[in-house]
Amino acid sequence: MKKVTKAVFPVAGLGTRFLPVTKASPKEMLPIVDKPLIQYAAEEAIAAGIDELIFVTGRNKRSIEDHFDKAYELEAELQADGKHDLLSVVQNVLPNRASCVYIRQTEALGLGHAVLRAKQVVGDDPFAVILADDLIRSEPGTLKQMVDLYQSCQCSVIGVQNVSRDETQSYGIVKAKAQGPRIHIVEGIVEKPSPENAPSTLAVVGRYILTPRIFSLLEGVTPGTGGEIQLTDGIAALLSHEKVLAYEFIGKRYDCGSKFGYLQATVEYALEHPELKDKFHAYLKNLKF
Ligand code: UTP
Repeated sequence: MKKVTKAVFPVAGLGTRFLPVTKASPKEMLPIVDKPLIQYAAEEAIAAGIDELIFVTGRNKRSIEDHFDKAYELEAELQADGKHDLLSVVQNVLPNRASCVYIRQTEALGLGHAVLRAKQVVGDDPFAVILADDLIRSEPGTLKQMVDLYQSCQCSVIGVQNVSRDETQSYGIVKAKAQGPRIHIVEGIVEKPSPENAPSTLAVVGRYILTPRIFSLLEGVTPGTGGEIQLTDGIAALLSHEKVLAYEFIGKRYDCGSKFGYLQATVEYALEHPELKDKFHAYLKNLKF
């Protein structure tokens, strides 16, 4: 029985929908209230028992490395000023058991290509993939739910969400047969089908647990439009070798890769934030449209 202890965070996309803010900084460093998206993703992984975090970074990698690194000067200042609460916030960005690895994707050649960069570090183990711009609020965390399912099935598990039929063109959509509550056996997977051609309304979102066989299959994927290697094509190839499950996670997802989803997450997280919620609620109530 293998355990899932490694997670890959592809953070090398161009983030064009957020330009100009993503010109010099990855979109995964965008904050939701006071924490960057990548930290929410790392915390979700840690809560699922992951202890090796593998970041596939692009040209603007610095801020992510710095975020998870020790900040000596800042810590010394906070210590000297007696700001112990803030000091502990800065020191506990990650627990001690977690280690970070950074791999470069020199060109943004697609999500499948980014995942393939992690092949050597992942080795022969099952691993998770988390897209930090899909922020999911759930308890227990979505990845924990999926790791638990992996422990019982020992096969790849893809996080899916039911979407309305007119949205299928924005997602990878699975053809699947129900196996149990929230669990489906994947029979096919299609990238961005039109509503009339979509095999279901179960959309793949940014959480995956994959077996290492995916790497050799990704190596065989022919690049599509824009020279991109799609993870979906690798998973489609995996289906002819292994069982793959789709899991409808319990939780609310915010598409923080889009401005609208990002704003929804910001408002809803602010309404739950211990320091801000009362003031922000009153502010929204009095806001005149
Ligand atoms: P997106 O499809 O959201 O693309 O990537 P993007 O480039 O980040 O953003 P837009 O569409 O231009 O606004 C989904 C995830 O895959 C990563 C991204 O960082 C994001 O987490 N990704 C995508 C890579 O790491 N490398 C790639 O080549 C492409």
